[in-house]
Order: sequence, then C-alpha cells, then structure tokens
Amino acid sequence: MTRSVVSIDDLSNSEIEAVFRLADQYLSEMGTPGKPFRVSGRRGDAEQYILATIFFEPSTRTRLSFESAMLRLGGEIISSADPNSSSAVKGETVADTVRVVENYADLLVIRHPYEGAAKVASEYASVPVINAGDGSHEHPTQTLCDLYTLRAAQSQKGAAPSIDSLRDMNVVLWGDLHHGRTVHSLVYALARFGARIIPLAAPGCEFPEHVQQRLARDYGCYPLSRKDVDSLAEDALPADVLYVTPDQPHQLALISNVWFQLSEKQQASIRSMKNIDAFYSTRLQRERLGAGEQVTEYPVIDSQFLKEKKYRQAQVLHPLPRVDELSYDLDQDQRGVYFKQASYGVPVRMALVAALLELQPGMFSAEPLHRRQYVSYRQREGLICSNPRCVTCQETERRYLLPKFLIVDENVPILRCAYCDHEHQPRAVGRLSTRKFTTAVDQWKQIHLQDIVFFRDEQQAIESGFQPKRPSRSAPHDAALKSPQ
Ligand code: NCD
Repeated sequence: MTRSVVSIDDLSNSEIEAVFRLADQYLSEMGTPGKPFRVSGRRGDAEQYILATIFFEPSTRTRLSFESAMLRLGGEIISSADPNSSSAVKGETVADTVRVVENYADLLVIRHPYEGAAKVASEYASVPVINAGDGSHEHPTQTLCDLYTLRAAQSQKGAAPSIDSLRDMNVVLWGDLHHGRTVHSLVYALARFGARIIPLAAPGCEFPEHVQQRLARDYGCYPLSRKDVDSLAEDALPADVLYVTPDQPHQLALISNVWFQLSEKQQASIRSMKNIDAFYSTRLQRERLGAGEQVTEYPVIDSQFLKEKKYRQAQVLHPLPRVDELSYDLDQDQRGVYFKQASYGVPVRMALVAALLELQPGMFSAEPLHRRQYVSYRQREGLICSNPRCVTCQETERRYLLPKFLIVDENVPILRCAYCDHEHQPRAVGRLSTRKFTTAVDQWKQIHLQDIVFFRDEQQAIESGFQPKRPSRSAPHDAALKSPQ
C-alpha cells in the first residue's frame, strides 16, 4: 500500500519514533564535527529514486531541506518552485498535476494554498505524497522537526531519547494560532503525546473552532479555564486557558457529552506546574488574513521576557521565518534552539523519505493507525464545505472533486470536511431514491448511507429539487415540518 503523509495523524506514535531513531542514526553516522545537529556528506541508499518538490507557495527551509535530504540519501530531485511557471496558472487542477508528475518521480512533496490540496494529491497519485503545507491547515513534517527538537531537549535534561518524554511537558504555543498550519499539526501531536498545552495567542489569532473541536473529539484534549487552572496551580499560569489530555497518551479518549473530569493524578500534575518547558513562537501569517482582518497587537519574545523564573528551562522554538515576534537578542541565549530545529529538517526528512520509499524495510507497519474512525459520507449533491479556502470549494477543483465528510457526531449529527476539517451541522436530510427530505436530521440513521443526502438547511434541499416528506405517525418530528411556499 502506498503511504502518504498528509496529516500528522497519518503516522502512528511508533512510526514517528522509528523516523526519529533513523534520524538519530543519520546524525551519528553523518554528523558534522562540532555540529551534532547537522548531517554532511552523501550516502547511496536512494540512488534509484527521484523526489519531486511541487511548491505553489513560497518556501526556503521546507523545500531546500527536503531536496538536501534526498541528495544526501543519494537520490535525485526535480523541482517546480515557482507557481507562476507551472501549469496551475493555466488552470490545471491538483489531480491532473500529480497524475502527470507521478510519472517523473517516486515521491511527491507538495505545498499548496488550498486547504486539503495535499489530500487530493494523495488520492490521485500512485506514489507517496508528503504535505509540505496546505494553506492554514497542516504542515506535518514541520511538526516532526518540532517534536524531534523537543525530544532532543528532553534527552539533554536526562530523559531517554523517546517521544514518551513529551508527556507532561508544559508547552506554550505563541502568536498566530489561527492561521498558522505549523501550530495546528503540532497541537494535535502534543495532544496525542499528552503534553500540557498553554495557548498564548495574539488577540484575534486564537485557535479556530475546528481545531478546538478536533482536539476534543479526536484526542480528548479539553480546555480548562483560568479559574479552573488557578484553583489547581500554585503559580498562576500566563494564559487564560490550558489544554489537557487523558491519562493514557497512547489511547485516544472517547468523547463524551459530560464535562471532562480531571483525575487525581492530573490535578496533582497541574498543581506542580511551575516551569514552562518550551515556547513555540510563530509569526503573524499576514498573507492569510481575510479581507478587513487586522491584527494590531502581536506578542514578542525577548530575553527580558524570559527572565521570569518559570521560563528558566524553556526551550524557544520557531518554525521560521521570523519577522518581529522573536527578538535577535535570543540568538545568543542557550534556550533559543530555532536554528537547530531548522537544521534537524534534513535528518528528519531523510528518515521520512527512507521510510516512505522503503529504503529501510519495516519502518512503517501495515497495521491500521490508532486514530478515531468515523463513518464517511460523500454525495453528488447537498451539503458542501463552507470554508472558502477548502480545496473542494475551488472553481478548478470542483470540476471533478466531490465534497466528502466524516460523521464525527452521529447524534446531532455533525459532519467534518474530510479535506479541511471544518465542521458542519446539517439542518435537513433527504433520500436520493425518493427525493424527499425532512428537517428531523436525527433520523438520518434510518436511511441507507448510499441513499442519504445531507443539506445545509431546508432551503438548500428545496433548491436541489427535493420535496418535504409528508408527516407520518411513525415520524413525529415531521409533524412540525412546514411546507414550502
Ligand atoms: C512555516 C510555513 O510555511 O508554514 N515555515 C516553514 O515551513 N518552516 C511557517 C511560516 O511560514 O510562518
């Protein structure tokens, strides 16, 4: 089976650990003297292979470190780095682009402004696809570099070199948590590994709703308010909210409608939360601000800020590029590890490429991923994703691509776009076979999945040519249904 990495959840915990162990090995065998975070030289493992980088958005680190990784593995690269020189400007679709380039290369690394574009690429390519950033959605390989940097920092403090050491770390996520794709993939990974997440967003740049919903539904990661935290913590936290995960980091918690109860162990660990282990700073994603959207206050980290006792041990990470949010005076500070983090991009991406090309057999198991499984729904008509940046909403892609949703809450029901993660609550449901609909959406389970059409609302159902279902004694909800005028 061809494996692609579109979301950080496409890799299991043990696969991430396997990638990190191989990255450790590359660093120990190919490390530059005096610079243990940098690989040098080349090996021959990938000499039969070609990697294509297809970038429709600017990049320095991600593209060059992928290309360097492939060259250091002994492979070759081909690159389309200027969107204006590719056929996308002529209106070529994502699906067509990858069906062409898959014939030229053995692995595709794609960056695209549409949210979900990398998933579309992986559905149409017969070779592995790596998501190098899809709009504001995800950037899973940056997260691998981030986790690898945190793991290295923990092992310097004496922990075994394992991602298990991330459990119970106190990590501040700082800056633009709304539009930044790196923090989105990272927060899912931190939730999975059981870190405590302290979001410190610039005003107006808080986590989007769909990220918070996925944190709760998929990882059982819930926000505790300042009131809850302050009643538990000895030192007041620097944030209004703290996200905590279940006791078992490797088990995804089942979501329930009852408020998440903190166990004794969790209460004790929050009480002892005096030190911040890592600060993850991000720049304001100006290019992703909507029309009229303005951010006037943006937090800056400098050595003065980090003077407080609780930051004494804090590692400062940043996916780079930085603008004004990270002071240059931190470059001399031991805690600033962002250049090391960028350097780890090469060994980590070498290891990921080696795994996907099966240069090192058995790194990725055939076992299913331990992630929450949801029923998926795809239909030719009815509900469409309302996120204007979703790949399924783009004029070019709509020619061939049908919206697809995961039914993440079967009771309400709630549908999550399978491409961009935005959630939707349909207000009407119909049967394709009878072209009748009802607003009693909770009756959807009585309909065969192939026959269901969900609608945004009654109006959309009517506009699609569906008739309201006549009230019947067996369906009391329908009695309230108003006939259209
Ligand atoms: C990030 C990106 O492109 O999302 N950069 C990177 O890949 N290292 C972060 C950013 O651009 O701010």
